[in-house]
Amino acid sequence: MGSEVTGQGLEPSVTVAVIGAGTMGAGVAQVAAAAGHPVVLYDTRNGAATGALEKIHAGLGRLIDRGRMDPARRDRLLSRIRPARQLEEVAEAGLVIEAIVEDLATKRSLFRQLESLCQRETILASNTSSLSITAIGAALEHPGRLVGMHFFNPAPVMKLVEVVSGLATDPDTAARVHATAAAWGKRPVHARSTPGFIVNRVARPFYAEALRLLEEGRGDCATLDALLRDSGGFRMGPFELMDLIGHDVNHAVTRSVFEAFHQDPRFLPSLLQQELVEAGRLGRKSGRGFYRYDGSEPPPPASADPAPRPETITMEGEPGPAAPLLERWREAGIRIDRVDGDGEVRIGSTRLALSDGRSATRRARDDGIPDTVLFDLALDYAGTGRIGISIADQASAGALPEAVGLLQAAGLAVSVIDDGPGLPLLRTVCMLANEAADAVLLGVCDAAGADTAMRYGVNYPLGPLAWADRLGPKRVLMVLEHLQQAYGHDRYRPSLLLRRLAESDGTFHRDD
Ligand code: NAI
Repeated sequence: MGSEVTGQGLEPSVTVAVIGAGTMGAGVAQVAAAAGHPVVLYDTRNGAATGALEKIHAGLGRLIDRGRMDPARRDRLLSRIRPARQLEEVAEAGLVIEAIVEDLATKRSLFRQLESLCQRETILASNTSSLSITAIGAALEHPGRLVGMHFFNPAPVMKLVEVVSGLATDPDTAARVHATAAAWGKRPVHARSTPGFIVNRVARPFYAEALRLLEEGRGDCATLDALLRDSGGFRMGPFELMDLIGHDVNHAVTRSVFEAFHQDPRFLPSLLQQELVEAGRLGRKSGRGFYRYDGSEPPPPASADPAPRPETITMEGEPGPAAPLLERWREAGIRIDRVDGDGEVRIGSTRLALSDGRSATRRARDDGIPDTVLFDLALDYAGTGRIGISIADQASAGALPEAVGLLQAAGLAVSVIDDGPGLPLLRTVCMLANEAADAVLLGVCDAAGADTAMRYGVNYPLGPLAWADRLGPKRVLMVLEHLQQAYGHDRYRPSLLLRRLAESDGTFHRDD
């Protein structure tokens, strides 16, 4: 499954039919029309298709206001979209994209009708986000012509299209849809029809790890969000993002993936989120979720009080991924003595080290160093403005200000997270990489596809597997093993592919 499948895209003269003129149908119709195709838009609800045209008109109007489109182009685009009164009007289409209600029986019955109406060569595509393409296709006489074409909301903006193949999907059909999506300016990725496809599967830990940390009282929403945003480079933190998506929707997706994987603990839904749904705290749309949307100021992230900067530190061995911090300390005028060791920093008797998935308390005990402070991962240690740390229970009163003072000297805001296994960004990234690795192992997609999907479907700053390569699969495996040990829970079991790469010193992307 992957980029080796190539094909020719549909000519722009080929008619594209879109069935369902709701949020997604309207967006997909706009994308196809923008690429030059005549588009037929059909919806069973009276007035829905013309309503969609009005919405597209208004949306393009905003682009015109911002000088990003000229009115003549908008008019040409709109003139290509024809609302249909009867389903029969889609008969001329070379590609039909279905974006109706998310219900298997309704979709099956629609595709059976389409099969009898359309020509034999017409490609039938479904925009389903959670149903199996294999299951939808099973109702068809020629299931090889059915493929998933999963756009992301808003379809005209989001670049990713998951091209989803069911058991019977003809590889040529998938290849043509892939090439067509590419010609439309999208970033198509091949995926095998499995629960959640790529994005909705691989993204689960982004929410799950944050919910777990909050449930365990490791930090508050604002602090955890700030760490994922400021040190992780994610556009939004998990709590603000769940509030935006809506907890009903986000929880339902997690539940559906969990059930579809026969309740694999890796996808275990959160009781805390379930409670928010039960309380009607659905997020922005209901005025309250993790945050309040009543015009009040959002709470600030926790940042440690200023602490004195040290004059001198000792770097024991090589700093590993955190090497750019050394430069920041040097620029701040701190003297750095170098000695052999395991990549840890000493400030007096305090040891500051990158988290490896163990708690600071556990690591202090394992190594017999009570004054242990651990710091979190950062996407870019040279540029990050914030860092998360945690401190061992055994540490003396002086350890925390020593570590905080050093990190603040590098210009960092420091968020102290209650001690426990793994720090927020590190565990989130390792779990995302683990899920992506398993998707690759199970033939859902290839490594490039997994990374492209997460970058263009949910705007991750870096593909999870490229991130794992940067850290080294060995380190990612170590973090997961420590988490699994600490929790005694199958949720953290490492993917066999990650283990294999760690054992062979391999990487996910060979050309990197
Ligand atoms: P929506 O509720 O906004 O629109 C669905 C439209 O389909 C409605 O206008 C409805 O009247 C029409 N419809 C229902 N049954 C029909 C039928 N038998 N024939 C013709 N029209 C029919 O829903 P939305 O959000 O646009 O979702 C549509 C599909 O896209 C679903 O399969 C959903 O899972 C998928 N999807 C949704 C995303 C989202 O963020 N909303 C993202 C990606 C996929």
